[in-house]
Amino acid sequence: MTLTQSPSVPTLPWTRVCALADILPGTGVCALVHGEQVAVFHLAGRVFALSNRDPFTGANVLSRGLTGSYVRGGQTRFKVASPLLKHAFDLETGESLDVPGVHVPVYAARTEGGDVWTGSLA
Ligand code: FES
Repeated sequence: MTLTQSPSVPTLPWTRVCALADILPGTGVCALVHGEQVAVFHLAGRVFALSNRDPFTGANVLSRGLTGSYVRGGQTRFKVASPLLKHAFDLETGESLDVPGVHVPVYAARTEGGDVWTGSLA
């Protein structure tokens, strides 16, 4: 699978978002990172970050979406379904699981010392 990132994805410097404990496992929060709304999720012991904007509605709602998992190629992957039209997106790639070719911009995310950080992908 090829990961494509829209050229309009803004560059974000590594930024502390919150404490990991601030994100209830299985849910997301929205963070304003250098003017960009970033949806940050804590799921299955991992953190994921992608744009908060649902590309199908233009609404900044993905952090409020329902998370879940699915299996592709024998691997468990994680997804979020937009609370509006329920379109699902892979949390790692931002890929729409409903409409081929549609992507939500994704950011790198990591934890350090109990804090969650996000930034642009290398
Ligand atoms: S430019 Fe970084 S927070 Fe505004």
